[in-house]
Amino acid sequence: MIAVPEIALATIADAQAIAVLARDEIEHGLGWSWTPARVQHCIRDPRSNVIVARDGVGVIGFALMSYDAEHAHLLLFGIAPAWRRRGVASALWAWLEATLRTAGIRSAQVELRASNLAARAFYERVGFEQVNATQRYYRGVETALHMVKELTAGSS
Ligand SMILES: CC(C)(COP(=O)(O)OP(=O)(O)OC[C@H]1O[C@@H](n2cnc3c(N)ncnc32)[C@H](O)[C@@H]1OP(=O)(O)O)[C@@H](O)C(=O)NCCC(=O)NCCS
Repeated sequence: MIAVPEIALATIADAQAIAVLARDEIEHGLGWSWTPARVQHCIRDPRSNVIVARDGVGVIGFALMSYDAEHAHLLLFGIAPAWRRRGVASALWAWLEATLRTAGIRSAQVELRASNLAARAFYERVGFEQVNATQRYYRGVETALHMVKELTAGSS
C-alpha cells in the first residue's frame, strides 16, 4: 500500500482524462460510451460522485458512483496501468465506502466484464460478492458479472 498523494472530488477539468482512461482501460473493444461530455454531466449531477486520485501531475485513478436513497452503483472505476497493485484502487474504494456508510446507503453494486479477472479479484478483496451474471450484456457479446457489497451495520 502506498500513500496516495491526493483523493478529491473530480472537477470539470478532469473529465477528459477520466473519459480517456475509461475508453482505454475499461471499454476497450466495446466503443466509447463514457465520453468527456457524459463524465462532465456526472461531475455536475448531485446524484453521483466522481472522485480522482492524483500523483501531483495528473489523474492516475478515478471512480464514478451514482446513488438513490438506499443503494449505490459503481459505474466506472479504473487506475492507470503504471499505478496498479500499489493500493490506489483500495484507497479510492475506502473513500467511497466511508462516504456510503456516512450517508446510510445499504448496498453498493457493480457490473464487470466476466473476462476481467483483475477487477473481480479486487472487488472480492474489498468485500463484494457475485450475485448474478448476464450473458451478452456488453454490446451483445460479453457476459457481465453482477457483484454486490452489503453495507448494513456490522458488515465490513
Ligand atoms: C481492478 C483495478 C481497479 C485494481 O486497481 P489497483 O489499484 O491495482 O488495486 P489495489 O492495488 O488496490 O489492489 C488491492 C487488491 O486487489 C487484488 N487485485 C488487484 N489487482 C489484481 C490483479 N491484477 N490480480 C489479482 N488480484 C488483484 C489484490 O488482492 C490486491 O492486493 P495485493 O496487491 O496486496 O495482492 C485495476 O486493475 C484497473 O484499473 N483495471 C482496469 C480497469 C478496470 O478493470 N476497472 C474495473 C471495471 S468495473
